[in-house]
Amino acid sequence: NKMSVIGVPMDLGQSRRGVDMGPSAMRYAGAIEKLQSLKEDIHDLGDIAIERPDSQQEQDDTNLKNLPQVIKANEELASLVDGVIEKGRFPVILGGDHSIAIGSLAGISRHYNDLGVIWYDAHGDLNSGETSPSGNIHGMPLAVSLGIGHDKLINLHGDGPKIKAENIVIVGARSLDPGERELIRERGIKVFTMHEIDRMGMPKVMEETINYLKERTDGIHLSLDLDGLDPSEAPGVGTPVIGGMTYRESHLAMEMLAESGVITSAEFVEVNPILDEKNKTGEMAVGLMGSLFGEKLK
Ligand code: ARG
Ligand code: MN
Ligand code: MN
Ligand code: MN
Repeated sequence: NKMSVIGVPMDLGQSRRGVDMGPSAMRYAGAIEKLQSLKEDIHDLGDIAIERPDSQQEQDDTNLKNLPQVIKANEELASLVDGVIEKGRFPVILGGDHSIAIGSLAGISRHYNDLGVIWYDAHGDLNSGETSPSGNIHGMPLAVSLGIGHDKLINLHGDGPKIKAENIVIVGARSLDPGERELIRERGIKVFTMHEIDRMGMPKVMEETINYLKERTDGIHLSLDLDGLDPSEAPGVGTPVIGGMTYRESHLAMEMLAESGVITSAEFVEVNPILDEKNKTGEMAVGLMGSLFGEKLK
């Protein structure tokens, strides 16, 4: 019942400006008030400071964009999140682009032997410098957490891998790069693509996701990328992919997670109000928070 909210106004993990305003968009849509209506004790820790790259700065030897700034912000986020859990509180992280999951998972995983992850996303975010088509670090956080990618990212807030491949479930994937597909196959990562969601229906997908993770993990982080939803309903995202999960399916997924009581930390990322229609996507994120944190059960 004790939660701490951390905003991460990060847009350097990808190329479209504006997603740094994601925390503001979700706060403006009533994120804090929503959480306060559902839980007794909400600490809003505000937003962490993000260093901007200076225009003179040269690209380093990697093809990873804004690497030093992404590292710095994620180190700070990891320490903050670690401290929140240390105090027995539930961390809610507001992004920012998805590169911030590197810091979230680094901080959270210290407190679990077998941290589970639900990656609710159109993408796998399983690229490395070698496989990335873009050099954007927001396409890499899940690979980094598995110990694949740039050394400085992998060893952030503790050496080596933070999670195990068998403790991950990706939900809603419909845009996977060739290197990501290979990694999924190699490591046997569980993925429910849109094909499975269409075929099995969201109730069955979530039931299987929850049962699968429940028996092998000691905590589950929900990493929800708003581009997992269909862009007609969540247009304010930098990398939209048509054919996504609906508002109804997503609410149901959140409600099933609430009923199961398995989620131990959560983040909402990739809300970009500049690309949005009157903060529709920020409002969507806040609506999903409501369902995830038990609005229906109250
Ligand atoms: N796979 C593409 C890339 O590596 C897109 C990644 C989109 N990731 C996201 N978190 N929206 O650049
Ligand atoms: Mn600790
Ligand atoms: Mn995505
Ligand atoms: Mn993502």
